[in-house]
Amino acid sequence: MLVSLNPSRSDQIIGKVAKADRSWAEKAIQSAAQTFRSWSKTPAVQRAEYLLKGAATLRRRKHEFNAWLMLEAGKSRVEADADTAEAIDFLEYYARQMIALSGRGEKELIPLAGEHNELHYIPLGVGIVIPPWNFPLAIMAGMTTAAVVAGNTVVLKPSSQTPVIAAKFVELMYGCGLPSGVIQFAPGSGSEIGEYLVEHPLAQFVSFTGSRDVGVRIQELSARVAPGQIWLKRFVGELGGKDSILVDAEADLEAAARGIVASAFGYSGQKCSACSRAIVHQDVYETVLSRCKELTQALKVGDVTDMTVDTGPVIDRASFQKIMGYIDIAKGEGRIVTGGKALPLQGYFIEPTIVADAARDSRIMQEEIFGPVVAFASCKDFEEGLAMVNDSEYGLTGSVYSNNREHIARAKAEFHVGNLYINRKCTGAVVGVHPFGGFNMSGTDSKAGGPDYLLLFTQSKAISELL
Ligand code: NAD
Ligand code: ALA
Repeated sequence: MLVSLNPSRSDQIIGKVAKADRSWAEKAIQSAAQTFRSWSKTPAVQRAEYLLKGAATLRRRKHEFNAWLMLEAGKSRVEADADTAEAIDFLEYYARQMIALSGRGEKELIPLAGEHNELHYIPLGVGIVIPPWNFPLAIMAGMTTAAVVAGNTVVLKPSSQTPVIAAKFVELMYGCGLPSGVIQFAPGSGSEIGEYLVEHPLAQFVSFTGSRDVGVRIQELSARVAPGQIWLKRFVGELGGKDSILVDAEADLEAAARGIVASAFGYSGQKCSACSRAIVHQDVYETVLSRCKELTQALKVGDVTDMTVDTGPVIDRASFQKIMGYIDIAKGEGRIVTGGKALPLQGYFIEPTIVADAARDSRIMQEEIFGPVVAFASCKDFEEGLAMVNDSEYGLTGSVYSNNREHIARAKAEFHVGNLYINRKCTGAVVGVHPFGGFNMSGTDSKAGGPDYLLLFTQSKAISELL
């Protein structure tokens, strides 16, 4: 049994969810393989209609899902609403992308006299979907429905921190008439059933979003060919980030400070896109730092059911301990300007924390903390700032605040991240507007919410008939 707790009130049980063992996981994958036979033959438009109906239902039940997100994931009302809205957008977008994709093949082929040629985007088979807890509705629903609308069946292993939201979403999709067996819901331990599913010979692809270390392990496991397996598994992986905001000497400093604080402390820094490094030109460093301090000290932290709260708890005890450990490290690696303490409440609350004067190669500048902690460092000029933002094994998001067109052009060419923002915060990608995915150790750059995402869950079949 998985017991899901409210991170704002750690003794409050949000839900109890059955914990699948390996024999259940085996049944789930066998059933997904069985269902694939019929689901893969269901016309694309019909598959898309289930997602459109899902989007409409989720829109009607938005406040209910927002409440689950607040209680199970500790999201503020604003962040919860954004998560639900993003889930609705994913369903709408992937439905329409699938309809477009199903008619695209032939239009793209060059005609050849004497032949009739076709190109069809067909599904892969059974996929294993393993999402994180930090966008427990949007990312989970997006990963699941993209694979499903492309004609695959999936085994969905939700995060153990947020299984209730996932269960509610799966229930919603079946309530919309989705045929039984298309989504196999398998909550359970990552190391026990997650690895079992990833290694299974019936799995044809793995769609994972989560931390670097788990992602690397799953990629390795999925690359092995299991006895009886007759295909190479595809791995789609979106991993961690160490995202930077670079502030030039010529910039709107108020906008930069607001962008840093919003990106660093929205959802208590628990976004892969969160700003965890602010790299500021030495001429404006103290100005930006002191304004960020003021803005941060004005943030209200607490139980998210209090609607006046700006940001809530971190997700659980393990996360709390890890972040507090990094704050201890930060005390030796920089200067705590504000925050640095836990709050004496019943949940897992940590003050939004700014650490100034961090060295470029320090742990707080290089490792993903995934909590409300941002490190500040100064650069002597824009050139050095660009080198510093690129000094990372990750490459997910980043922002530049500058009014200098030459510098903006250089950032566009040289700031090596999958999602670069100019003069705006580095969180809050919008489906269909900002396709999302990272470089290097941030993953396989799948660009969720982008026009090529569904291709990752299809294979194309070319048919040529001599006339
Ligand atoms: P995590 O890696 O701990 O867990 C992710 C998922 O993997 C969970 O469902 C978990 O149960 C499962 N899992 C854990 N160990 C496993 C194993 N051995 N085999 C199979 N499955 C296993 O990550 P998390 O704490 O849930 O999420 C936070 C991380 O996700 C951060 O690093 C964040 O940057 C990253 N993230 C990335 C993106 C992106 O788009 N790049 C988006 C959101 C979160
Ligand atoms: N898509 C989320 C963001 O951009 C992670 O903040």
